[in-house]
Amino acid sequence: MHKVKEVSLADTARLFDYLQCGVFGAKFKLKGFEYAWTIRAREWKPGERVLDVGAGYSALPSYLADTFGCEVWAVDDFGMSAQQDFWKRARDPHKFVEQTQQVKYILERLGDPDESSLPLEYFDVICSSSALEHVPDQAIQSVWRHMDLLLKPGGEMLHAIDLKFQGDRGFSYLLLAGILDLFYRWFPSKWKSRYARATPRCYVYMIADILGFDKVPSMHGMNSIEMVLDPEILIEPPETTYNRIIKDNAIDIRYHRTAALLLHLIKAS
Ligand SMILES: C[S@@+](CC[C@H](N)C(=O)[O-])C[C@H]1O[C@@H](n2cnc3c(N)ncnc32)[C@H](O)[C@@H]1O
Repeated sequence: MHKVKEVSLADTARLFDYLQCGVFGAKFKLKGFEYAWTIRAREWKPGERVLDVGAGYSALPSYLADTFGCEVWAVDDFGMSAQQDFWKRARDPHKFVEQTQQVKYILERLGDPDESSLPLEYFDVICSSSALEHVPDQAIQSVWRHMDLLLKPGGEMLHAIDLKFQGDRGFSYLLLAGILDLFYRWFPSKWKSRYARATPRCYVYMIADILGFDKVPSMHGMNSIEMVLDPEILIEPPETTYNRIIKDNAIDIRYHRTAALLLHLIKAS
């Protein structure tokens, strides 16, 4: 069972506050919001054991280790076990890991506790930024179960998950997303994984099924139709889409607007 501390979408007002206060990582893009949100979400203490899931080359793990004296681990195989060279980003992950001594990197994919070297019930905090949306549908449930096993009783989860605005794909998709928002909770389990990333509400309902929540969060203003109408929701800037086209050769990108779902949960003691 998990207590729900926060379920929200990243918004411009908080980003402006993070920028004005000079919070580490704050920038005009979703990741910039997510790093600052993670840092601000709780009081970090020396010696706390932290796991960043899908950390890639992020500077957040080093920052948490250097600034707060946390024992920081990061789990990411940089796509190597799934032959997805894309995630190496034309760099050498082994070299990066060697140079980042203050963080303990585990070059694995989460999802199978039997195949993993990560210690169970070890971490005080498990966090991720712009990572969990890349987990394929069939692995979402096992990745969340694995994270739950790694977290200590009383430990915290802080996840920022980037999800698309279905309205960008046209009115019929928006309508379908609205229907999913209303009826997803009653879907059979195998459909739940398939549609989990369709909307923020669907994602939250799926996590609630897997972990168990103390209460169903209200998610006010978070349905797909309200999202389209809310100018406060922070979206990825066009520059990020452009970079993906140029650097990642993602020439088929059509839909640019992405929002960040923020989840802060506390595992029952
Ligand atoms: C967008 S990238 C890196 C995001 C990173 N957190 C940052 O802030 O730059 C997403 C990463 O998630 C990793 N990933 C995907 N599925 C994973 C899994 N099951 N376990 C661990 N990492 C995973 C990928 O290898 C990739 O490096």
